Amino acid sequence: MVKKLLEERNVPKLLSRHEMLNILLEEEYGYLPPEPEKISWKVEENCILNFCAGKATADKVTAVCGINGKEFSFPFYVCIPTCEGKHPFFIHINFRDCVPDRYMPTEELIDHGFAVLSFCYEDITKDNNDFTDGLAGVLYHNGVRRPNDAGKIAMWAWAAQRVMDYAQTLDTVLDFQRSVVCGHSRLGKTALLTAATDTRFQFAYSNDSGCSGAAITRGKQGERVQVICGAFPFWFCENYKKYIGAEEKMPFDQHYLVAAIAPRKVLIGSASEDLWADPVSEFLCCVASGSAFGGFVYEGRLPEIGDKFFEGNIGYHLREGLHYFSREDWQRLIEFVNSK
Ligand code: GCU
Repeated sequence: MVKKLLEERNVPKLLSRHEMLNILLEEEYGYLPPEPEKISWKVEENCILNFCAGKATADKVTAVCGINGKEFSFPFYVCIPTCEGKHPFFIHINFRDCVPDRYMPTEELIDHGFAVLSFCYEDITKDNNDFTDGLAGVLYHNGVRRPNDAGKIAMWAWAAQRVMDYAQTLDTVLDFQRSVVCGHSRLGKTALLTAATDTRFQFAYSNDSGCSGAAITRGKQGERVQVICGAFPFWFCENYKKYIGAEEKMPFDQHYLVAAIAPRKVLIGSASEDLWADPVSEFLCCVASGSAFGGFVYEGRLPEIGDKFFEGNIGYHLREGLHYFSREDWQRLIEFVNSK
């Protein structure tokens, strides 16, 4: 039944990682900004004193990047358990810059032995059509973009990669076999693009990312290309607009984004009432990209609330409820990472 549903979607066949990435960057997200010519860090140690009663350190770091002969800086937080050992870690692309935050239960993550590095996406460039703001202003002259230049999702992904640059300076306390990039919704789309374009990330987690994220576009319920390009054209490159009302002509579908992360690991999380994102289309994306990971292991039927398909390197879980990055989602993510 699932196979038949996927066949009806008529998605293009998987290609090599390199080919799939080129298509996605050219046609959907735009090419990521170049790596900085130079990068340095300003570290404010213990910006939150005795964080979690001393169970973790909390530093505020500013990345100072030389790019296009100009300077671009942004802040992020680094919370690391104080106990011995090398810690698995999350790079969380967050909506807000609070630690903890309603989308980021920092103490619980620390209690599970994870470190978390997080930044607020709008500290990179605002979530609007202004391409003179922040990193966009450094990249583009007067905010003018060519058809395949980075949209805002590609810029936020670039920033997550800079946070990984910093993580690499902490190699005595972080475990790089369990490096995870994660985000919710538009930032779940961003997390997938981050890992697809940077092999330093061993895991990616997309929570409720939906249209132009982890959901197959062809035949999708809820949001479609026309709607997303109407409301949020700036998330993508200009070329993406070609597919408004012409999704069948796309030389890709979203399984390319997920498959481009293989053979590393991906977990896709959906919420049962998030019909705008469309849990079924997110699940079908796991099925469609499965062969790139050596198979998606599921029960041959559509998912039910509470399901966790964690056996393969591509995993899926379905939580009850609405669009939200919940504690339950984090718990599933921790379980998935710890199971590998
Ligand atoms: C809107 C948008 C979605 C996006 C979501 C979010 O609902 O249509 O594509 O994922 O915002 O980021 O919360």
